[in-house]
Parts: sequence; structure tokens; C-alpha cells
Amino acid sequence: GKDKELIRDSWESLGKNKVPHGIVMFTRLFELDPALLNLFNYKTKCGVVPECLSSPEFLEHVTKVMVVIDAAVNNLDDLDSLEEFLLNLGTKHQAVGVKTQSFAVVGEALLYMLQCSLGTGYTAALRQAWLNMYTIVVAAMTRGWAK
Ligand code: HEM
Repeated sequence: GKDKELIRDSWESLGKNKVPHGIVMFTRLFELDPALLNLFNYKTKCGVVPECLSSPEFLEHVTKVMVVIDAAVNNLDDLDSLEEFLLNLGTKHQAVGVKTQSFAVVGEALLYMLQCSLGTGYTAALRQAWLNMYTIVVAAMTRGWAK
């Protein structure tokens, strides 16, 4: 339908390399909730956000997140096929200390990134389409988190 088209077209318009967009997203995430930075500090040992965002471990996670979003966009017709993966992903985030409420903040950061990247292409319909998809992804991760 129209939602899937909006999501696919906008995602494609961001270009092949999604990492720079992921950096915008996570920069926003740490602005919204700086405490989340601590969940990465065990590895990066970096004190401030800009330093942290350019560390290899960090860029690795940003890349992983973009791969998951890419998988969701590519499986819009059958998001259930990602269920096992997302359950497992939720469990892993529970283990590293991420709270499920933080997934919603990631969603806000995702929308912020889309708004920055798409400009006037960022419409109410597009926002809602992305939010719907992201909500499905997070619902599965949250089920895995609670298991
Ligand atoms: C792994 C933190 C949200 C995808 C991890 C790890 C940490 C972490 C500390 C383990 C170390 C690493 O692999 O870098 C966070 C925090 C989040 C967040 C603080 C914000 C609330 C997300 C979201 C996604 C995601 C929304 C995807 C939609 C992944 C993936 C892995 C991972 C794919 C690797 C899991 C594996 O080892 O198989 N995350 N994460 N993360 N995260 Fe996140």
C-alpha cells in the first residue's frame, strides 16, 4: 500500500550508505537521553558524545541498527519473518541494560533523522508510516526483552 511505498522510497532516497544517517540519529538519541551513553562506555571508555560517536565500537553499533532497519524495510510484506531475530535482539538488549522505554526514544531519534534528511518530503503520512513500522519492530524486541 501507500505506507510501504512511502517507507521504501524515503529509505532509498537516503542513499546506499546509511551510517551517516545513523550517526545523526544516535547524536539525537544522546541529546534526548545522555544516560544511554553509559551503556556503551564499558567498551568505548569515551567521556563525551562527539568522541564516542567516532569510536569504532560505536560506529559498529550504529551500522548494526541501520542493518536492522534496512531488514525491516526490505521485509515490509512479511515482518513476521523477522520475529525470531527481533525477539533475540530484545533479549540481548535486556542483557546489556537497555530499558524498553528507551526503544521509544530511539524511535523519536529515527523520526528526527528522517525529518533532517527528507526536508519537505517529511510529511505527516510519512511520519505515521515509519512510526507504524517501528512500533512493530519494537513490540517484537520488547517481547524478547521480557522473556
Ligand atoms: C547490540 C546498546 C538500540 C540493534 C547492542 C549492544 C549494546 C547496545 C550495548 C552490545 C554491544 C554491541 O554490539 O555494540 C543499545 C542502546 C540502544 C540500542 C543503548 C538504545 C536504546 C538498538 C536498536 C536496534 C539495535 C533500536 C535495532 C533496531 C543492535 C544489534 C546489536 C546490538 C543488531 C548486535 C546484537 C548481537 O550481538 O547479535 N546494542 N542498543 N540496538 N544492538 Fe543495540
